[in-house]
Amino acid sequence: MSMQARDNGGVRPPDRGKLIRFKPVAREEQPSAQGQAVEKRSFYRRVDVADTYDAQRFGGDSGARVNARELALACDLLPAGGVVADVGCGTGRLTKALRGRGDRVIPCDASLAMLRVAGRGGAGPAVQADAFALPLSDGACDGIATVRFLFHFADPAPLLRELRRVTSAGGTLVCDTYSWSPRSLLAVGRQRWGARVATVGRDEFRSLARAAGWDLRVARPCFLISPYVYRRLPLPVVGVLERLERRVPRFLLCRTFWALEAV
Ligand SMILES: C[S@@+](CC[C@H](N)C(=O)[O-])C[C@H]1O[C@@H](n2cnc3c(N)ncnc32)[C@H](O)[C@@H]1O
Repeated sequence: MSMQARDNGGVRPPDRGKLIRFKPVAREEQPSAQGQAVEKRSFYRRVDVADTYDAQRFGGDSGARVNARELALACDLLPAGGVVADVGCGTGRLTKALRGRGDRVIPCDASLAMLRVAGRGGAGPAVQADAFALPLSDGACDGIATVRFLFHFADPAPLLRELRRVTSAGGTLVCDTYSWSPRSLLAVGRQRWGARVATVGRDEFRSLARAAGWDLRVARPCFLISPYVYRRLPLPVVGVLERLERRVPRFLLCRTFWALEAV
């Protein structure tokens, strides 16, 4: 077995010249090689999970609405036109949106299965990489976009530090967190949806980000309940929920999109 294949946990790297550029990271450099982070990585490496990811979360009219809202939030918060890493890019929905507006995007994900779906969907070249030890030089990026990613990890601090390392001073990180979710208590349908999500209070997240070298620029609370629920509801009901979101106190909303600036 080649050194590359061993470093990649035994997954055979794609043939040279194919869609995915393989960039291994040595095992001893991966703080994510423990606990919950391993479970998340393993879950998304499953071919069945990758192949059904988009339809389960963004299928149907209501799913398309959730997708459009999330992409609009992320694109709106991230200045256009720079070098942007889409970390945990998954099936590439945000990569495509950012490329579409002219950003030079580096999509990264630990899962070859997800990257293959991204490739088939037209997301272009991508890098298989562990977000805890990115194969990018210091300050390589003007911006980072990482959606539906941080809330998979109980402690986002090491990720926030690594994302800061690869971002130039003044650059922007766009990310999202949950402040509450039933799935933080119980992993309903674990085989299908994966392990529990992590929640973090907005003040606590601000402190964690600050300690990792990020200043808060914008916080956009959104969604009354998990978007997984929105996806399952008829579109007119989703419309009602969205109108309600604008009326209730912002602390009741369960998710926040953040724009942070590298200091
Ligand atoms: C919920 S999906 C989000 C995908 C995409 N950002 C989106 O919004 O649809 C989480 C992604 O994070 C990736 N992932 C999990 N652990 C990772 C790690 N340690 N490094 C890089 N990617 C990881 C998974 O493979 C998966 O594609």
